Amino acid sequence: MIHTPFCELLGIAHPLALGGMGSIFSPPMVAAVSQAGGLGALGCHRLGADEIRSAVQAIRERTDRPFALNFLLFAVTEEPFAAALAARPKVVAFAWPRGGQELKPFIERAHDIGAKVTFMVSDVAGAKRAVDAGADVIVAQGTEGGGHVGWMASLTLTPMVADAVAPVPVLSAGGIADGRGLAAALALGASGALLGTRFLASVESPLHENFKRAIVHSDGHDTMLTEIPDIAAGIVWPGAMSRSRRNRFIERWAGREWLLRQRQTEALAEVQSARQAGDPEEAPLSYGQDAGLIHEILPAAEIVRRIVSDAETILKETLPRLVR
Ligand SMILES: Cc1cc2nc3c(=O)[nH]c(=O)nc-3n(C[C@H](O)[C@H](O)[C@H](O)COP(=O)(O)O)c2cc1C
Repeated sequence: MIHTPFCELLGIAHPLALGGMGSIFSPPMVAAVSQAGGLGALGCHRLGADEIRSAVQAIRERTDRPFALNFLLFAVTEEPFAAALAARPKVVAFAWPRGGQELKPFIERAHDIGAKVTFMVSDVAGAKRAVDAGADVIVAQGTEGGGHVGWMASLTLTPMVADAVAPVPVLSAGGIADGRGLAAALALGASGALLGTRFLASVESPLHENFKRAIVHSDGHDTMLTEIPDIAAGIVWPGAMSRSRRNRFIERWAGREWLLRQRQTEALAEVQSARQAGDPEEAPLSYGQDAGLIHEILPAAEIVRRIVSDAETILKETLPRLVR
């Protein structure tokens, strides 16, 4: 069994975490990952206080193991954040502060309820800033990942961040979807891995079945970094683009972002109906390059089990055989 300082700190069996994904609301998926021995996380940034309370209850009806409540710092508002803290999660997971935003007050409030704090970053400076403010775990997120990402690849960012913040445990995120990825993350000095895209194509994921199939069919070469989904949604992200499927919708607006801004209301209405219809060409669909490693839709617990077991085999059997 692989046991790392991250497992030790949070009292969990496996060094594998689900990324908080605010656009993917599924308490059953969060609970399934935690119940399987990983760390589930509920993205809270679109939720009101009542929704957070009932989601936490739904998670706790399924598992008594630790899980995280995830907030995007640039968009956090007081009432939902206070409701999340009142629910006393074991972990509060932060990501994406604005430049210059004070981190300490948020981290201290999480510590005050006895929670550990994970903090996602996309560069070394961000990692140092989060550790200086008191974060307990750093998530080094590489540009291969789905959702909003920075410019550095996981292969370089993970060891740089691990060196910069040692002995604070680091999770590697971005581009990891199987046991090879988890084993590689550990070899890079991480204490575990955090995954988003792999769980989008899980049974418990609330994505439209067509979108899950699009991930399974992707060869991983069909994504790009773009602001187009955010422009259509009327969101200004602090310093990141989103890795999204390069579909008809994206290609129609690429290079004409100025026009999309002008037509934002109509574009948003079109996107919303394409999303409801499950049209993978006309709805923005965010996933990582690791979609090319995902070949079937599986229950979340089975994903955890397979990744952990494959990583163990690699570390215990495959790699030692290479050393003479
Ligand atoms: C659709 C989608 C939505 C996401 N939303 C959030 C979010 O709300 N908060 C957050 O911390 N990370 C978010 N992420 C990033 C993930 O937590 C994670 O860092 C990323 O998915 C890792 O890369 P991978 O997709 O290659 O596994 C999102 C990712 C995706 C694909």
